[in-house]
Amino acid sequence: MNNRYHIQTYGCQMNVHESEKIAGILEARGFTSCDDVSDADIIVLNTCCVRETAETKVYGHLGRIKSQKKNGAILIVGGCMTQQDGAAERLAKRCPFVDIIVGTFNQSQIGEYIDEFLHTGSRVIDIWKSEKDGGAQGVHKSVAARTSGINAWVNIMYGCNNFCTYCIVPYVRGRERCRPIDEIIADVEALLKSGYKQITLLGQNVNSYKYQDKTFVDLLKMLEFDNKYRLKFMTSHPKDISLELAELFATSKVLSKNLHLPVQSGSDRILQAMNRHYTRDQYFQKISAFRALVPDIGLSSDVMVGFPTETEEDFLQTIDLVEKVRYNNLFMFIYSRRSGTPADKMPQLDYTTKQQRIDRLIKHQFEISKQIASEWVGRTVEVLISEKNGSKCFGKAQNDAAVSFESESANVGDFVNIKITSAKNANYKGEVVYE
Ligand code: SAH
Ligand code: SF4
Ligand code: F3S
Repeated sequence: MNNRYHIQTYGCQMNVHESEKIAGILEARGFTSCDDVSDADIIVLNTCCVRETAETKVYGHLGRIKSQKKNGAILIVGGCMTQQDGAAERLAKRCPFVDIIVGTFNQSQIGEYIDEFLHTGSRVIDIWKSEKDGGAQGVHKSVAARTSGINAWVNIMYGCNNFCTYCIVPYVRGRERCRPIDEIIADVEALLKSGYKQITLLGQNVNSYKYQDKTFVDLLKMLEFDNKYRLKFMTSHPKDISLELAELFATSKVLSKNLHLPVQSGSDRILQAMNRHYTRDQYFQKISAFRALVPDIGLSSDVMVGFPTETEEDFLQTIDLVEKVRYNNLFMFIYSRRSGTPADKMPQLDYTTKQQRIDRLIKHQFEISKQIASEWVGRTVEVLISEKNGSKCFGKAQNDAAVSFESESANVGDFVNIKITSAKNANYKGEVVYE
């Protein structure tokens, strides 16, 4: 063994950050990371199961790893996919070359499972139904080996209580648990001290954060430090987002001026069937409140097409909503059946209808993004540089637009004023504004 590990991550930011924590466990045991699967002594796949495509990808990748991995390398599969009913057993059967299978609640035990496997030589398969199963606190007790450059992720809560009828997340991540507010604040302070320029707070529904008498907006206010940094969060739920948050956006010196507010559908009937607890009008009202207080706010959203029973009329309502809101960025998905969720038992749409609808939606959004981009040409934005290649710098503006420009002297982590000179879809080019 030359003590190398390789982690592959699927799914959302939550998983990206959990992989950093798994890396922290492995590094504490003397392992260093490597890019090539064939060099690794320990290979970890941190999986996602939010859509069927995510699962198919994992199985495809496992097949490739089987032929690439070196003799004696330990293969571990963890993450949301293994946490579904019967999934760990199916995986164990289908892929006998997988050595360790863990769930989302016991990833902090990976070090112990490796010891057990090395000691006994037999496979370790352990899935907990909640963190209480092990009396531990889950993976968040470990120290993360962060890989995300200028940005550091910080969990403020775990799990979800919303049970949107299409969604598997509450089943694989458990009920909502909020971290103590003082722990979060201490984490952020320490990260800023060590040089991070952007902090992203993570939770499936950050707006419902509650710790003793403190709300999410209280938490944000307590993170209003004097340091120059950017504070982001995800994800927000339209039913819980408050006007108070819009007010804070208008005055805050640290909050990034962008909001990801997933709408899912523009049809009231579908929103109800999805168990989303808001109507399109209520959604519009919230968007208007934010735009009134923060006119240049960058808006993004998740939208799904082809939810069970969605009619052409319902779909047109979604298109209409997308046209009215004019999102800077839109993540568009085809509804995917998830076993065990209520929507899986509803009447399903055929593949072609779903495919045609997503194609139509993508076309509409493409035009909107193009128009918005052209409106930004000539304006000056503040960019936080996240990457530099030669003299070419890349970063994000306050409204989350991706901007590239040339500069010899600017460095990663700098905030620079950039005048946008051209824009293609969501890719902006600009030049440094000298004061
Ligand atoms: N907690 C977040 C993110 C959940 S998963 C939220 O509520 O916004 C991210 C996105 O995946 C969701 O917003 C939804 O658009 C999409 N998604 C979830 N389940 C899905 C399914 N069964 N099929 C297709 N897309 C799905
Ligand atoms: Fe899934 Fe809904 Fe929870 Fe988001 S809020 S994780 S979509 S159940
Ligand atoms: Fe996927 Fe789990 Fe995130 S299912 S989207 S990795 S919470």
